[in-house]
Amino acid sequence: MSIPIYTYDTIIVGAGLAGCAAARELQNAGKKVAVVTKLHPLRSHSGAAQGGVNAAFSDEDSVELHEFDTVKGSDYLADQDAVEFMCQKAPETIRWAEKMGAAFSRQKNGKIAQRPFGGQSSPRACYAKDRTGLTLLQTVYEQADRVGVKFWDEWYAADIIYKDGKVSGVVAFNIRNMQMAIFNAKAVMFATGGYARAYKINSNAHANTGDGLSIVARHGLPLEDMEFVQFHPSGLSGNGVLISEAARGEGGRLFNSKGERFMEKYAPNALELASRDVVARAILNEIREGRGVGPRKDAVYLDVTHLGKDLIMERLPELRELAMTFLGLDMIKEPILISATAHYSMGGIPVDIDGHVRLNNKEFIEGFYAAGECSCVSVHGANRLGANSILEALLFGRFVGKTMVNDIDNIELRLASQEDAQRTLDEVASILNNKGNEGVPALRDELQQCMTNNAGAFRTKETLQIAVDKVKELRERFKNIRIKDKSKVFNTELQEAIEFGHMLDYSLFIVQSAIAREESRGAHYREDFQERDDENFLKHTMAYMNEDGNIKLDYMDVVLGKHELKARNY
Ligand code: FUM
Repeated sequence: MSIPIYTYDTIIVGAGLAGCAAARELQNAGKKVAVVTKLHPLRSHSGAAQGGVNAAFSDEDSVELHEFDTVKGSDYLADQDAVEFMCQKAPETIRWAEKMGAAFSRQKNGKIAQRPFGGQSSPRACYAKDRTGLTLLQTVYEQADRVGVKFWDEWYAADIIYKDGKVSGVVAFNIRNMQMAIFNAKAVMFATGGYARAYKINSNAHANTGDGLSIVARHGLPLEDMEFVQFHPSGLSGNGVLISEAARGEGGRLFNSKGERFMEKYAPNALELASRDVVARAILNEIREGRGVGPRKDAVYLDVTHLGKDLIMERLPELRELAMTFLGLDMIKEPILISATAHYSMGGIPVDIDGHVRLNNKEFIEGFYAAGECSCVSVHGANRLGANSILEALLFGRFVGKTMVNDIDNIELRLASQEDAQRTLDEVASILNNKGNEGVPALRDELQQCMTNNAGAFRTKETLQIAVDKVKELRERFKNIRIKDKSKVFNTELQEAIEFGHMLDYSLFIVQSAIAREESRGAHYREDFQERDDENFLKHTMAYMNEDGNIKLDYMDVVLGKHELKARNY
């Protein structure tokens, strides 16, 4: 039976903030757009961003300070041309979102409310209570829908059609009935989200399995700076569910088992509002040195009781609800238990400021774009500042959409054929027919545990080598899986097996890139190389997967600018 081929001007994979914003720009400009997404758009992980979105609005703040904080937060690995673009466009982006219908919280004078966030010189995070991402996602999705974007939701994008340096579509299947389809287009944009689900304790949605990255890598295309995985300081103890930095932004304090406000030792000036990597490591260090709290002594206290019920109910209602639901603790009355949780992927598909995907250090791929967490532009470098993520997704999503509007009239549609789906058909058949004795959930658990133990917030050559060996072992065992569900209706067992294959591939990128970076920078902390080494490592990692599955490393220059390299203290 032949596979249907649907033709559009552009295909966007992923319906979070970046995907919806780009789709709206394209459709609004009269282009025919389809968004292929494995979730309903409103379940995209952008909706989980709680605390805010940065823009330098206030009289005490400036675009230049926003740039400086972002570059410093990145431990000087961010590309400063991209940072400048993002920070300059941030105020306009917030006004645009507001005009589109996003209801931000307000100050008494009617201006948009802004709260302090870590690593920032001024209260800069515009917020909608503690549901900022959800508010923005609802707004942008609604606007994309309003202009007529076609959403193919609960469709799983399994591959790109890539030949001769050009991308001309996507192969996907309907999760409801396994119906396969080819989406043929002049241009494709990936907005597929991050990869923190490689870790046992993480704040990410179940869907954040990094599929987009491995799909790209399996075609021999590079992934950039994959070693930089952000650990957010405050995940709920035991399950890593995000407790927004807003809690500390509003004045929350961290305490250890001795009742010490331990951030005084690690960041005497910024305290709980140092950059995320600094606070996360401080928390984990307190726990490692025996000053943890809770039944397993694997947490610290986050105390907001002094803020009072009114402020908590007005600005942090979602966080209170989460702590009550998962821990049975009411933050109005008592401290809650938190620890660091894998949260965000600084690395990803390398792109220029306009969203063009790189073929290598110098060249680009025709018809291929990326934005949001799956991409590496790079505005976050080695460590992202809180509230710069939904800014990046919304802003670059919109602007990459505009780039595509301009580009696609000059791109010729290369017609797709049935053979373009062959890789996906083979992959699905091989998983369904495999008669091995390994189960995906158990293998996934081993991967996540190993990544948390060996490639987490603290790393050494030895631990990373353990992780490399483990990922390679799991890849071999993955060839020997068996799935029980052979049906075509919502076969989530099959989907999870495909997703796990992606997790294995990009995890190898994380650990191989990390083992080669013999320095500490931002979120990448090597206990065997504790200093930043600008002489040898002020460069982006560009990693490629060979046909044999091994990883080859190359490097690319960082775009420097007016913010000069300095030691990073908070
Ligand atoms: O803590 C938070 O609200 C998370 C926001 C972010 O990652 O930018």
